[in-house]
Amino acid sequence: MATPVSGLVDPDRGYVNPAIYADQAIYEQELELVFGRSWLFLAHGSQLPNRGDFVQTYMGEDPVLVVRQRDGSVKAFLNQCRHRGMRICRSDEGTSKTFTCTYHGWAYDLEGNLINVPLEDRAYRNEIDKSKWGALKVPRVAEYKGFYFGTWSEEAPEFEEYLGDMAYYFDAVVGRWDNGLEFVGGTSKWVIDCNWKFASEQFASDIYHAQSSHASALMALVDNPAYWAGISYQSQTPGRQFGGNGHGAGSFWSEALGGPDPTYGTGDYAAWVAANKDEVFRNVGEDRALRVAGHNTIFPNFSWLGSPATMRVWHPRGPGQIEVWAWTYVPKDAPEEVKADIRLGTQRTFSPAGSFETDDGENWTEIQQVLRGWKARHNTFNAQMGLGHEERDVHGQPGETNDAFSETAARGFYRRWADLMSGLSWSEIAELDAERQATATAVPQE
Ligand code: FES
Repeated sequence: MATPVSGLVDPDRGYVNPAIYADQAIYEQELELVFGRSWLFLAHGSQLPNRGDFVQTYMGEDPVLVVRQRDGSVKAFLNQCRHRGMRICRSDEGTSKTFTCTYHGWAYDLEGNLINVPLEDRAYRNEIDKSKWGALKVPRVAEYKGFYFGTWSEEAPEFEEYLGDMAYYFDAVVGRWDNGLEFVGGTSKWVIDCNWKFASEQFASDIYHAQSSHASALMALVDNPAYWAGISYQSQTPGRQFGGNGHGAGSFWSEALGGPDPTYGTGDYAAWVAANKDEVFRNVGEDRALRVAGHNTIFPNFSWLGSPATMRVWHPRGPGQIEVWAWTYVPKDAPEEVKADIRLGTQRTFSPAGSFETDDGENWTEIQQVLRGWKARHNTFNAQMGLGHEERDVHGQPGETNDAFSETAARGFYRRWADLMSGLSWSEIAELDAERQATATAVPQE
């Protein structure tokens, strides 16, 4: 029976009970009801350029293999041998025609079908029906502009419906360039001792921390007090935050594309972007190019930043730990020196040893340590920033938005989390969303 969660989060009033970050039973329920039913990021097409290319990843804690098929499509299956449960493939990535389990040698094809059993005649008297013992297939894989997502749920909405208004914000990055994006430099992986929701929620909803948490790192990176003042205290800079379907995005508004950013590499990237801004404006429009791309999360655990150019999955590892898998993304058609500049900028800021990354990790691990206390776990957290000041479809941005300094996306994140954790079906959630939207107040400003 599902653990009741209705008293643990109250998005309408902006209350969060911190037990949701530390309780083992709640975590087990998340694996089934959140990760078992949501669309989860699997891979980018640039990780699988050729037939037989594969990467290993996780859906929640379940290891899955994502494989480019002979017909060019991408499929995924549980990386668990049906004999005794060994990983079918122990490599992180590679190219193969088949996958052979190293324990007793059962072999599977690129779709996960069982195709060979050693000593089939003597050991199994030729009586095993191999068609029944293939790997568990991920039943639904969707491709969106080069990005592959999968879900175990037969009932979840189609991926584009799941994205909803978040597509506008995702497209600001993935639809920016004529020839799309690619991942470069492999996958960076590291462990942080914190609950996965701290990371997902922050990337969805929290630009507020930057001026405090990242102030000293910024001073270390940039030897220019005038710049610190401009970036560290953006209280006068306009910006918006979006929240919808559990997803979130927020950004300050820029005045120009490709302006100088001294935290970023050598400057080649900024100059190249400025020189190619017409391509961006043509693809996503000038307003979107200048006003959208900052911090983002697709519920539950796929996040990215517009600059630095990092994308990542927060793989859960128990209530108090995550494995971060992060990639640097670049415009596919950019010159090599520009790609190198982007990699340098991302490595120095948002990578395992990146200056801003370590600030975030320190915050999250500190909170998790405090939650070891019994009283600390039975407290109430405030998620009320901007509560009651949401607007819909204003400033040319679709969906429910608020000032950049708000927690609209956080409240939406926990609303979707609670819907799923309550055991509501996706169709019941859709009905609830329609009711919520009908009762929400739209106050257009322009
Ligand atoms: Fe895979 Fe035995 S566990 S062949």
